[in-house]
Amino acid sequence: MKNPLEVMIQKNIYKDKKVFDVDWVPENLLFRDRDLKEILDVLKDVYLGTRPKNLLITGYSGTGKTAIIKVAEKYFEDYSKKHPKKVAPLFINIDCSKDPTQFKVLRRICMTLDPDTKVPLRGIGIDDLYDRLTPLLLESKRFIIVVLDEIDKYMYNPKNKDKERLLKYLSRRQDLNAPTKTSLIYITTKARIFESLRDNDEVTSSMNTVHKILYPYTEEELIKILQERIKRGIKKEYRHLIPLETIKYIANCFKDSHYDVRQAIGLCRASIDSLNGNERLTPKMVFKAKEKLYNASVKNTLKSLDIKFIKILYLLRTNGVPTKKKRYETDENYRLLKKFYEKTTHEKIHTKRQHARYLTELEDADLVDSVLENRGRAGGIVRTWALIDEDFVLPIIEERLINYFKQRKIEWK
Ligand SMILES: Nc1ncnc2c1ncn2[C@@H]1O[C@H](COP(=O)(O)OP(=O)(O)OP(=O)(O)O)[C@@H](O)[C@H]1O
Ligand SMILES: [Mg+2]
Repeated sequence: MKNPLEVMIQKNIYKDKKVFDVDWVPENLLFRDRDLKEILDVLKDVYLGTRPKNLLITGYSGTGKTAIIKVAEKYFEDYSKKHPKKVAPLFINIDCSKDPTQFKVLRRICMTLDPDTKVPLRGIGIDDLYDRLTPLLLESKRFIIVVLDEIDKYMYNPKNKDKERLLKYLSRRQDLNAPTKTSLIYITTKARIFESLRDNDEVTSSMNTVHKILYPYTEEELIKILQERIKRGIKKEYRHLIPLETIKYIANCFKDSHYDVRQAIGLCRASIDSLNGNERLTPKMVFKAKEKLYNASVKNTLKSLDIKFIKILYLLRTNGVPTKKKRYETDENYRLLKKFYEKTTHEKIHTKRQHARYLTELEDADLVDSVLENRGRAGGIVRTWALIDEDFVLPIIEERLINYFKQRKIEWK
């Protein structure tokens, strides 16, 4: 038999599929030259014998925040290769959505600086970790830049105690006789991340932070970025299957989400994957791919969502009548939920204030939407409704509730 791989590989339209991966970063970012220069200008102090200021990088999702720091890191490596006496800083990249506590971040830094020692996840105290870290930092020949990506997951984590200690520790001189060896880069979509610390002068001044905002791309810029990706990822002889008109359609899909590059690249890949044989990619096919992606992501979110949110969504979505679409005023919604709690679990319901916060969280996750209704002199009221109207959604919510109540042996309907 002729090796079937011959034909498969030859017929494959991808030249390099990984360029469509969410975490793949090109050597250079389009349209970010000026931003990159500003960032390098802060960090260059590493070579000048002083500690660079800390950097806070904010911007909407998919504006290239994570990517720009990876590119900056490469510039340092390149420079130091050319100038061996100038030792490149060591970037320690920490994703706080995976390591959302002081302990975990410290542990990660220790393990990066000293890969031979394993730090257990339990049975060791915070102070022990600081005792381990301090000599590692003092001995390090390289300047250390700790990148705390998704820092909001660290700052807003209620289980993360004494969170400012680590930030202060890494922002200041460890020891008055020792040269300063560390600085911090915070990355987040939340521009106001440190606002709650404002009253604490000591923290903010020791953090000495430059705030850099990455503004969203324009539609034209997003189109160019997508074109560039396609050029790198798709074989030349197949590129005509993805016409400009369709790329424009893909970009336009994200006009309400600040032309988010990450999502646009994801949709691009899903659409190309749905191509059969030698057909051309049409907007209609992109639309279908988008729907499929959206459904998969909603399903995923709902499967792992905390049960208190599931209960809220259930009420917003049904109020017991599955087809009824209704916009609930916050108090009214709270009252209904309270009844639901009383009828079912007899568990204590969260407070009204918490409820408003939960609704905001659901809104952030695009699961509900709300409007402020103006009531003239009486002020305004907020009405909220579930965004997820697709038929497949209610069964998932119900299944979660059924399991939840079954475990507690409760009749709920
Ligand atoms: N200017 C650009 N040129 C080329 N590719 C880009 C550019 N900006 C972003 N990208 C690509 O877009 C994707 C998303 O970028 P990145 O992960 O840096 O976004 P982010 O701002 O960190 O988003 P989030 O807040 O969701 O973490 C990556 O694949 C990145 O390579
Ligand atoms: Mg990021």
